[in-house]
Amino acid sequence: MKHELILVLDFGGQYNQLIARRVRDSKVYCEVLSYDTSIEKIKEKNPKGIIFTGGPNVVTEKDAPIIDKKIFELGIPILGICYGCQLMGYLLGGQIGKAKQKEYGKAELKVDNNNILFDDVKKESICWMSHTYFITKEPTDFNIIASTKTCHTAAICNSEKNLYGVQFHPEVVHTQEGNKILNNFLYKICKCKGDWIMTDIAQEMINSVRQKVGNKKVLCALSGGVDSSVAALIVHKAVGKQLICVFVDHGLLRLNEGDEVENIFRKQYDMNLIRVNAEERFLSKLKGISEPETKRKIIGEEFIRVFEEEAKKIGHVDYLVQGTIYPDVIESGTKNSAVIKSHHNVGGLPDVVDFQEIIEPLRDLFKDEVRAVGTALGIPDFLVQRQPFPGPGLAIRIIGDVDKEKLDILRQTDFVFRDEIAKAGLDRQIWQYFTVLTGLRSVGVMGDERTYSYTIALRAVTSLDAMTADWARIPFDILEQISVRMVNEVPNVNRVVYDITSKPPATIEWE
Ligand code: XMP
Repeated sequence: MKHELILVLDFGGQYNQLIARRVRDSKVYCEVLSYDTSIEKIKEKNPKGIIFTGGPNVVTEKDAPIIDKKIFELGIPILGICYGCQLMGYLLGGQIGKAKQKEYGKAELKVDNNNILFDDVKKESICWMSHTYFITKEPTDFNIIASTKTCHTAAICNSEKNLYGVQFHPEVVHTQEGNKILNNFLYKICKCKGDWIMTDIAQEMINSVRQKVGNKKVLCALSGGVDSSVAALIVHKAVGKQLICVFVDHGLLRLNEGDEVENIFRKQYDMNLIRVNAEERFLSKLKGISEPETKRKIIGEEFIRVFEEEAKKIGHVDYLVQGTIYPDVIESGTKNSAVIKSHHNVGGLPDVVDFQEIIEPLRDLFKDEVRAVGTALGIPDFLVQRQPFPGPGLAIRIIGDVDKEKLDILRQTDFVFRDEIAKAGLDRQIWQYFTVLTGLRSVGVMGDERTYSYTIALRAVTSLDAMTADWARIPFDILEQISVRMVNEVPNVNRVVYDITSKPPATIEWE
């Protein structure tokens, strides 16, 4: 089925994915494309509306990303946000100027709610601003429809041509009326109907995989993580036993995790699942290795070797399933940031499998949509709502070298932590929470005896996308209960500390 489409043209701002997610949350499908997409391609896509994102540049500078002015003549409604608003104003004859000082943070917004963009929006509310430049003089055929104390052109429009610009960020939660404003654009200006509905999408995906695969053979590396689980299940629902899933248990999983994954997929869904118990192989390769990137490299490579052996036994397959999701698609090739940690979980698989084509059923979905599709397919919450878990598993939560004894300590403390967080009903609020076996031992006293045991660090963060994170404010009495249980229930642990560093400057994982 072809869905109605909003195009988000990316000018490099930090909230770009957020804009797209908000549009999708409003049940309208959207795609993020680079600002330099040709007018022909845009026309071909036939969008109901276009959103220009914010961006770090100044429109009047020489190398600023600019768009062909023909876009304003297509008759397609456009909403420019921040840089996008300035760009629209500038290209259509307005003037841009520098504010006396950067405006960053919350501002009081006054809107003209006779304008359709602000239909049903409170006359006065708080919005989120983040800019230095702004439109000092709007184009002649535009009206000013909102203002703040320091920015008299907080929103402008040419209603006849359906061109709208907002200097503030409606996509950010701090903009109180942001959702309503975006919805007005989508539903009242672009006349969308809202056909991006997850239960239908799940069925559409199954149908399209079935059509594509026919009676051919498919292979999937199943990790038990949300993406690979949902991807595998879509393909399984489409072609049943023509799908073979290989689950490599590297021995670095959480308590009982390997059995849980096997149970669900083999027993509940009757999938064609091969579980490879490779703990010993991985642990022997990791012996004595303490450098984090070396650990990652060894695990990544060993994973590929194990998978390769299994794939050889299976022989030629027609398709290889990958759990690529939309943020991977948006980010691939557009960012040149320094490598802080290398995440090469399944990166090398295509090289070692004899296959014809990759299928990526989740390629168009954001993470929360993947979860919604998983739920629509009946995957239990404990799998679909699970926190992100790194490919190298517990190995990067043990500072220093990894062995079975340390892994068991970590598994037990991690279990206690998860159990207490779930009991406290905090599991949905915290993005990730886990324990770290610090390399540190310290002196303690237990039952009149001196102890010299490990220090466990608790790590719990709130986050939207793991790019930045804040340490979670877990109530003290819950922290106390966690600490008491860990020290009592887990041998060789006599001290528990709580990591109160945000990202940046720290990272979420310790390695
Ligand atoms: P950091 O520690 O970089 O983590 O703040 C950001 C997110 O990425 C996860 N992470 C990994 N995921 N392979 C993965 O698949 C890795 O090597 C890896 N290292 C970190 C981390 O759990 C968090 O969700």
